[in-house]
Amino acid sequence: MANPRLRALSRCRKWAKKDWAITAVGFTFILFALTLLFDSRNSDTPSPTIDHHSTQGLVPLTLLNRAKATGAFCLDGSLPGYHFQKGSESGSNNWLLHIDGGGWCNSIKTCNVRKGKALGSSEYMDRLVPFAGILSRHPSQNPDFYNWNIVKIRYCDGASFAGHPESEFKNGTKLFFRGQLIWEAIMSELLSLGLSNARQALLSGCSAGGLATLIHCDEFRDHLPTDATVKCLTDPGFFLDEPDILGNRTISDFYHDVVQLQSVTKSLNKKCTRTMEPSKCIFPHQIIKNVRTPLFIVNPAYDFWQIQHVLVPVGSDPRGYWKRCRLNIKECDSSQIKILQGFRSSLHKALSKLEKDKEGGMFINSCFVHCQTWMAETWHSPNSPRINNKTIAESVSDWYFNRKPPKKIDCPYPCNPTCHNMITPG
Ligand SMILES: *[C@@H]1O[C@H](CO)[C@@H](O)[C@H](O)[C@H]1NC(C)=O
Ligand SMILES: *[C@@H]1O[C@H](CO)[C@@H](O)[C@H](O)[C@H]1NC(C)=O
Ligand SMILES: *[C@@H]1O[C@H](CO)[C@@H](O)[C@H](O)[C@H]1NC(C)=O
Repeated sequence: MANPRLRALSRCRKWAKKDWAITAVGFTFILFALTLLFDSRNSDTPSPTIDHHSTQGLVPLTLLNRAKATGAFCLDGSLPGYHFQKGSESGSNNWLLHIDGGGWCNSIKTCNVRKGKALGSSEYMDRLVPFAGILSRHPSQNPDFYNWNIVKIRYCDGASFAGHPESEFKNGTKLFFRGQLIWEAIMSELLSLGLSNARQALLSGCSAGGLATLIHCDEFRDHLPTDATVKCLTDPGFFLDEPDILGNRTISDFYHDVVQLQSVTKSLNKKCTRTMEPSKCIFPHQIIKNVRTPLFIVNPAYDFWQIQHVLVPVGSDPRGYWKRCRLNIKECDSSQIKILQGFRSSLHKALSKLEKDKEGGMFINSCFVHCQTWMAETWHSPNSPRINNKTIAESVSDWYFNRKPPKKIDCPYPCNPTCHNMITPG
């Protein structure tokens, strides 16, 4: 291929097929950077919480030593880890767990890349991390959970804590598929630290951690006292089984590969895996059919991760017509917005079961963003996104504490001026 443009296109297409999970690897870091790139309507008012480190406190990493006993290792064989901030006073017996995000790996190649990064190895994890938003210990930023025991669980298996070692390679390819074992080792450790006596508990997670939350929600519930209040929250985790703009089943094929590679089927609901192609059962609209524990879904209607990887993966746009729009919703023309509105309708349709569920809650804002609960600016701040004048934090609390009707669905883009629409680097 002599034409450099064609060469670039072919590289793009290949990149899209094989390596887009890698994008997700850098995702956690990108998100931090993105908090500074908000396309905020209040760009001339200084953000009250921009100084993360002085206001949010840093919480150290604890390596999970007990993981040695069961071989519950990260992809590279290192120990998994978590960050723990002890609860106090009225929060002493309450627990909030938050599972990190970071995409998935669907091939030996993409999993191998993770071995050299925090998403596959604790060797590379930051030893100290800020706790913000839903993790914050400041009542002004986190009014209802600030004094709970708060745990941030680091993600290092590449399959939403649902892989099994049966499919590890017996040849020279050294990759540990121990996601389910990591989940169990973390539970065992937290139960021994007081989780077993919890009065109130909330399991939550961002992105791949949001999916892990859905997969493990009932297991979490079953570990806790029967009279405790236990609920689960995903932010976002509602990945849609939708074709891309060319009509190809990109996301479905991708999850199929993840499920095959890491033997994820064993962690999925048996009622589901008996009746259909098992990898279909990793999709949230299937998972929620069988979850018994109350669920809250925080999900932007224009989740940029899904727009960039489900609806318009790079390979689906060889002419680059979506090049700018997929990174910044303000760059979309009217025909592209129409397609995005179709994606929003599919999300609402997929959520219809939960809409009828009396114990379920949701906050579906019409914003171009991804994880919103662990950032102060989007969780609860004077200029955070709102629906009916409620922040995400207030809506989650209304649901958790049974205060108010907990289902909030926004009008379509661009109707909500409180959005923090992001400009993503791609
Ligand atoms: C190990 O086996 C897998 C699956 O058959 C194969 O893809 C991989 O290349 C093999 N690795 C080595 C080092 O032979
Ligand atoms: C995607 O769809 C197009 C058009 O239908 C088709 O030509 C192409 O081969 C498909 N690509 C993949 C990777 O399936
Ligand atoms: C929205 O809520 C804030 C408090 O969070 C309140 O001060 C304000 O008056 C409310 N605005 C409307 C229009 O209800």
